[in-house]
Amino acid sequence: MAEDFQIGPLNHVGIAVPDITEAIETYKTIYGATDITTPFDMPEQGVKVCFVNLPNSQIELIEPLNEASPIHNFIQKNPKGGQHHVCFEVRDIHEAVEEMGKRGATVLNEPRIGAHGTPIIFVHPKNSNGVLIELMETPKGDH
Ligand code: CO
Repeated sequence: MAEDFQIGPLNHVGIAVPDITEAIETYKTIYGATDITTPFDMPEQGVKVCFVNLPNSQIELIEPLNEASPIHNFIQKNPKGGQHHVCFEVRDIHEAVEEMGKRGATVLNEPRIGAHGTPIIFVHPKNSNGVLIELMETPKGDH
């Protein structure tokens, strides 16, 4: 089944922000977004997260919880925030890990449960034109 491995739908674009409350206000007041989830902490990942729900996709807003956060350095370099990653859905995370290896891409973490409650991995930006790629198993019952 692996030769036909391919990424599926764009699930979300991850934006790192210094202040998630301000970022939510921006999406509401400038862009008119009305469907925005309540921010929640993911302490194991060192981030606070919420989603701006759009008709065809989501924007994931990510604020570092503390200086140990993996996105703390990103915010240091980009004080106003910036695009952090792009997330595509895959049918099976273990197949994705195996295929990334076979295809010469560097997977940055063991599969772990992401903000949507399904397993995710990150692929090194050096393999994708400088863009950090998240691969996320499609939630069961979706699509
Ligand atoms: Co993400």
